Amino acid sequence: MSSPFARPNIPVGPSMSIFDPLFLGIDEFGHPVYLPLIYRNLLIGGEPGAGKSSLLNTIIGTAALCTDVRLCLLDGKLVELGLWKGCADVFVGPDLDLAILTLERLQTVMDNRYTFLDSVRRQKFIPADVFEAILVAIDEIACFSATMGDKKDQERFMVLLRDLVARGRAVGIIVIAATQRPSSDIILPSLRDLFAWRFAGRCTNDVSSDIVLGHGWAAKGYSSNTVDPQNQGCGFLIGEGGTPGLVKAAYLTNEDIIRVADYAAWVRRTRAAKPTTGLRAVA
Ligand SMILES: Nc1ncnc2c1ncn2[C@@H]1O[C@H](COP(=O)(O)OP(=O)(O)OP(=O)(O)O)[C@@H](O)[C@H]1O
Ligand SMILES: [Mg+2]
Repeated sequence: MSSPFARPNIPVGPSMSIFDPLFLGIDEFGHPVYLPLIYRNLLIGGEPGAGKSSLLNTIIGTAALCTDVRLCLLDGKLVELGLWKGCADVFVGPDLDLAILTLERLQTVMDNRYTFLDSVRRQKFIPADVFEAILVAIDEIACFSATMGDKKDQERFMVLLRDLVARGRAVGIIVIAATQRPSSDIILPSLRDLFAWRFAGRCTNDVSSDIVLGHGWAAKGYSSNTVDPQNQGCGFLIGEGGTPGLVKAAYLTNEDIIRVADYAAWVRRTRAAKPTTGLRAVA
């Protein structure tokens, strides 16, 4: 059986699409690993310095060059995803109120899209739809769910996030969330299991690795605690009912990111805009 991450047959075209699997890195045999993101979510966990933000940057870099996806970025540290600000419809820094407001807006967009799908008697968003996919990237869930603000607001954030992860996929809302605290108070198994793809960068112990990949994988020999701490960007990737596989993520340097981000921001600024049915329409 071929790997779900095998090289896809993507035709050469004038632009990139979020409907095509994106290049993530290489597996332990040096083969390219591609990740289909549309209709799916991705959870990224790992200890500090494991390479989580770098992986997010690689994914956002690809998405920024796709002409059919809008970016909504939440970065509690401000500088991890900050270079993509010019490409994003919405960029949220360390501001829990704004983060909640943004997730509420996304919830409204999601509900409107479901109403639309209902009206056309369909279950899923398709490339021909007038609205675009939305990539919601969150760097450090815990910043918003455990560090900033009070308990009530943190819980509100988590309720909204869970709803987006659970219902957003079919209407083209893709959530990618990273955490350096893969502990059960931050990532409940019920939330973890909503993420079709999960990437565990190096974790400090088997329990943390299992919290990202799923219970029992460490006992079967798949623990990201075995990843060399010097091998940043390397971790186990598990997808939809499969077995974890080792992946070394592709890496963009700061200069690479600035180059890609400036180009993508220009393309986004200058291309003909679709009717505003996305995030901007509910401002
Ligand atoms: N795929 C990669 N290939 C090579 N080097 C990498 C890769 N990913 C990360 N690194 C290196 O590891 C460093 C730390 O990575 P990164 O900032 O992404 O970690 P992090 O998991 O986000 O850490 P924190 O939890 O502290 O935010 C990077 O500055 C880079 O030097
Ligand atoms: Mg980081």
